[in-house]
Amino acid sequence: MSHSDFFEALGINVKDKFAAKRLADAVGIPVQRLRHYNDSNTLPSGGDLDRICSLSGVSPYELMLKMGVLDRRILKALRSNATEILDLIRDDIEQPENFIKPPPMVFETNFGRLYQGDCMALMHHMENDSVDMIFADPPFNLKKIYPSGVNDDLHDEQYLEWCERWAAECVRLLKPGGSLFLWNIPKWNTQISAYLNARLTFRHWIAVDIKYTLPISGRLYPSHYALLYYCKGEKPKAFHPDRLPMEICPVCKADLRDYGGYKDKMNPRGVNLADVWTDITPVRHSKYKKRKGANELSIKLMDRIVEMASDEGDLIFDPFGGSGTTYVVAEIKRRRWIGIELGPVEDILSRFEEISVEADLIEKIRHNYNCLFTADNLSVRREQGLWTCESVRQTGGNRH
Ligand SMILES: C[S@@+](CC[C@H](N)C(=O)[O-])C[C@H]1O[C@@H](n2cnc3c(N)ncnc32)[C@H](O)[C@@H]1O
Repeated sequence: MSHSDFFEALGINVKDKFAAKRLADAVGIPVQRLRHYNDSNTLPSGGDLDRICSLSGVSPYELMLKMGVLDRRILKALRSNATEILDLIRDDIEQPENFIKPPPMVFETNFGRLYQGDCMALMHHMENDSVDMIFADPPFNLKKIYPSGVNDDLHDEQYLEWCERWAAECVRLLKPGGSLFLWNIPKWNTQISAYLNARLTFRHWIAVDIKYTLPISGRLYPSHYALLYYCKGEKPKAFHPDRLPMEICPVCKADLRDYGGYKDKMNPRGVNLADVWTDITPVRHSKYKKRKGANELSIKLMDRIVEMASDEGDLIFDPFGGSGTTYVVAEIKRRRWIGIELGPVEDILSRFEEISVEADLIEKIRHNYNCLFTADNLSVRREQGLWTCESVRQTGGNRH
């Protein structure tokens, strides 16, 4: 489906197949470029903008307003005329309160409740300021087929409008001091962050080094997911990031980086968690993959997020259940949780039947955190005469 704010702003009838060509001939801009402005809702600039505006009689600011491409100057002017503008647009933006049926609860544990249906309907029935942490991993609008049959091929504007609707609900539900995480590809999170920046406090853009497509010709190889991290209010109520072991050569166990040379200053509890995560592997192995062909997230990723931004007994909400990774991790870590999935929930239910397998996996993962060297690596380093926390302290700790 194509979008037509740009053409409509110029008074072009999008149903007229030749109208764009006529405009292209008149302004001397290739029709392909005009279509790009239209389809991606990108404001023309430079000579193109001058030619389009002078020929159409539409001023640049009118074009910007009609395309919804607002700079700070326009926003400032809109703000100072807010009352008059609201009178003009009230009917378009205020919606009547319709009765929305709550989705049915389909599963319950000591800690959580799983619903089946549309997350918007569930959130409608949830209270303001009631959730401590939210994690959202929506469909990425990449034309994927989901078991729920959700349309994953929306026009950019439609997708972003939908994202803003559920994000607005997430903001409303979050308690002061609560944390919100959004998992998406950078293309969408740059846009969703613009919406959230005005409502929550930006904490981090965490780049999680995972390749999610094959290399694309003419583009850089997309190699990270964007994990947006916000909190409500000035600072988060819970923040205890794990510390990670130092990166060392997996074969010879020697240092891979020079941490400034002062090894005695290295914290024996490990290296500070950075905003680039390189140790999260995609879930590919069938032993751990719970849903065939689904975008199931790594339990290691979710464990790190839950550990960092919540405490035992906190309430965690994830509006896009999928295979239920968030709910399983919340349950194992003794957080209360609320979940919902539009499509089938059998995979989530069967995951809970074997939850001890994933609890063991988390224990194994956590065994290697909050230390500078894992126990196995430490013994090899000792054997090889490589430095350890004790050895640098014994030798006075200076440069080795
Ligand atoms: C990317 S997957 C989430 C994967 C999940 N994080 C996991 O680890 O398994 C997105 C899920 O959201 C579901 N979904 C899409 N729209 C929804 C809606 N409006 N309400 C509830 N679930 C929805 C899809 O059916 C899909 O299973």
